[in-house]
Amino acid sequence: MPTAIINSLGTYLPKKILTNFDLEKMVDTTDSWIKERTGIEERRIADDEETTSILGFKAASAALQNGNCSPDKIELIILATTTSDYPMPSSAALIQAMLKATNAGAFDIQAACSGFIYGLTLAKAYIEANIYKKILLVASDKLSSVINYEDRNTCILFGDGAVAALISNEGEGLEIKTSNLGAEGIYSQHLLIPAGGSKKPASEDTVKDKLHSVKMEGKEVFKHAIRRMAKSSLECLEKLNIQVKDINWVIPHQANFRIMETLAKQLEIPFSKVFRTVHKYGNTSAASVGIALSELFESQEVKPKDHLLLTAFGSGFTWGSVILKKTETND
Ligand code: UT7
Repeated sequence: MPTAIINSLGTYLPKKILTNFDLEKMVDTTDSWIKERTGIEERRIADDEETTSILGFKAASAALQNGNCSPDKIELIILATTTSDYPMPSSAALIQAMLKATNAGAFDIQAACSGFIYGLTLAKAYIEANIYKKILLVASDKLSSVINYEDRNTCILFGDGAVAALISNEGEGLEIKTSNLGAEGIYSQHLLIPAGGSKKPASEDTVKDKLHSVKMEGKEVFKHAIRRMAKSSLECLEKLNIQVKDINWVIPHQANFRIMETLAKQLEIPFSKVFRTVHKYGNTSAASVGIALSELFESQEVKPKDHLLLTAFGSGFTWGSVILKKTETND
């Protein structure tokens, strides 16, 4: 059976920085509250012209360049996003056009903040089934387009960003060893955008009532996020028949420093092994785990045969974990 390997990664973070001090001027909050409760210091915000597909295209171009791969070699583009440019068509199709990936199929998946993990799982399945040999997984979100910057419960948390992974059946990089996905739709009301879909299409009232922005019951999400990421991580370890001590790095969804700290305690793993970018980018939704993975990979801290545990949780509720193993040579 072919194995699925992440050969290269690329990211794109918008230039504009929104700091906690900027937010102090917008809503009733403070830098110290945000830092203490979330660990976030700043986040990136895309320009008006920088749509989700453009963020994704820039990350995809970087991944292709880092992997020395031309766009015509790509057979499938999977985009994980919650903030597609349009309800129709998919933003994956827009990325396909911008890349001129003329031999690729393209579609979006929606698993909110778990999107990158869901995408890795799909890519692994396609490659192992020998359906495709080269897949570009993109995770891109422009959460700033669905945030109410008068709601201090949500506006302090999110940022914009994108990541892309070139995944193939050969070469060096990070082998996708196993994965575990889950969902519990009964909790959908705890984290959602109430309008703009088929249930409540856009109307004057939905705009007036600010129903096109993210609503979240933070405490509920917090509690479930820890429980689900811990359980799914342990299930993944069990599937691969390895132990927590065999994990060299944990890369959790970058939503809140305290969630990651509690997760590390529950997994009985030193916090120094938990890779973090939340302080500088906030929660970038589908892209969050992938952006952190890319930064860790670039740091050269990942050694041959290292095991990496990725785990995420998001609206749905959805969650999932993936274990990656660095291949033996360091090319
Ligand atoms: O991407 C999907 C995953 N998302 C997440 O994982 C987010 C999970 N949730 C969280 O990270 C946390 O629940 C938050 C950071 C959103 C909130 O932290 P918390 O410790 O759960 O605070 P809270 O909502 O219980 O609020 C505590 C207090 C409240 O005041 P009172 O009622 O105690 O007087 C809030 O009104 O803090 C107040 N508060 C704020 N104060 C200053 C809420 N937001 C703010 C704010 N600045 N931005």
